Amino acid sequence: ETPQPADLIVFGGTGDLSMRKLLPALYHSDRDGRLAPETRVIAMSRGGLDDADFRGKVDAEVRGSVPVDDLGVWQRFLGRLHHVTVDISGQDPTGWARLAGMLGGHEHRDRVFYLASPPMTFGPFCREAHRAGLVTPASRVVLEKPLGRDLASALRINDEVGAIFDERQIYRIDHYLGKETVQNLLVLRFANAFLEPIWNSLWIDHVQITVAETVGTPGRRGYYDHAGALRDMVQNHLLQLLCLVAMEPPSRNDRESIRDEKVKVLQSLRAVTGGEVDRFTVRGQYTAGESGGVPVPGYLDEPDNTAPTEDSRRVETFAAIRAEVKNWRWAGVPFYLRTGKRMPYRCSEIVVQFKDVPHSIFPGSTPNRLVLRLQPSEGIQLNIMAKEPGAGEVALKPVPLGLSFAETFTGRVPEAYERLLMDVLAGNPTLFMRRDEVEAAWRWIDPILDEWESRGTVPEPYPAGSAGPAAAHELVGRSGRVWHEEGLA
Ligand code: BG6
Repeated sequence: ETPQPADLIVFGGTGDLSMRKLLPALYHSDRDGRLAPETRVIAMSRGGLDDADFRGKVDAEVRGSVPVDDLGVWQRFLGRLHHVTVDISGQDPTGWARLAGMLGGHEHRDRVFYLASPPMTFGPFCREAHRAGLVTPASRVVLEKPLGRDLASALRINDEVGAIFDERQIYRIDHYLGKETVQNLLVLRFANAFLEPIWNSLWIDHVQITVAETVGTPGRRGYYDHAGALRDMVQNHLLQLLCLVAMEPPSRNDRESIRDEKVKVLQSLRAVTGGEVDRFTVRGQYTAGESGGVPVPGYLDEPDNTAPTEDSRRVETFAAIRAEVKNWRWAGVPFYLRTGKRMPYRCSEIVVQFKDVPHSIFPGSTPNRLVLRLQPSEGIQLNIMAKEPGAGEVALKPVPLGLSFAETFTGRVPEAYERLLMDVLAGNPTLFMRRDEVEAAWRWIDPILDEWESRGTVPEPYPAGSAGPAAAHELVGRSGRVWHEEGLA
């Protein structure tokens, strides 16, 4: 298919996300011939840059992070970039007028407003863009996370954006949905016949979803103090993964069918409220320790241009939750979720632990585990029991049957943002969150946040480089289970 000309307007276009993820993704798409020659990328910020300044900044900051094997392609990419200085308070319309001038005459093109900015700017941005006459029927708007900080703010933002754009024009990003292995989970479940019959409470003991990061939060205090692991990771990324594991088979792979099934899962989550919050949730904050053999400071001592406050002391950098999906398929199967900064390894994985054999004739058998590794070294592994070679007593050993994506598929694995940006340009919202999904996720998160906040207690400390607070082990240990620690020993 020949790519159609588009105008991609990135608000927050000189910010961290844009420089680290969006521009590299667009460059890769350009290099692979997936952008039409006329396609433009217009960064908007308060920064006061002109086109040449912005191109110089991208040349200096992005070129080192992407493979530039052909300078001509790099120059062509730079040539697509523009910068417009805007004010979204509505005081100074000059930037908007300039943008209108640039977009004028191109109303037929796909027009994408990508809001890589804090959520409180979403409503004002949409209003100003509308006032400047820039919202055409072929326009779409992309909203970066976090979409609010609780249900009430999410509803407000969705209303504000919804007053200008139709739901079908709104693309809410959760970049985990763009990851190759996450999409592969759907293929694994729904393009193979052998799993689905055993994908239920009769055969599965429990599910673990872990997103462990080695990074801390240096320089992010302003954001992170008011977010924390529950809002930053669980409300979106981990719950989306849970949905893909737990959802019913959709009847089609189209824009609504998968999202319809995901929202049903979110609506089936058993609410964790009141005193249960103590039993079913754990929060931690890292203290000084090490990362990759190097000493690192604790959360409160991370270098930043603002000093830690009471909010900093209360915010969690680690969260673990025991969730339950109350429906026929999953009754009684716990879904353990955990995520943390400054863990000993970077490792995102979904572990499906099957039940033990109903009757064992060999000593030492352990239940099967299916491990879906999202990152790093993407792959799928099924641990099965095998007999160790030997003429003596039968000795069992769990051994992996494995699929490594890097070994099986050659070629570059595109980054999540590349896939998602191309989907927005193609008008395909399947991998984006619908309004009701985001709201259902907040509806489940809100009572946990309320309970944590109303207690006024501080999270449990854990040293940087450890696998999180002791309570996280008790969370699974109470029912005789253990976390899968292959990567996180
Ligand atoms: C972002 C969070 O959404 O996801 C970050 O705001 C986190 O705190 C990041 O580090 C993790 O993404 P990835 O793709 O590196 O796993």
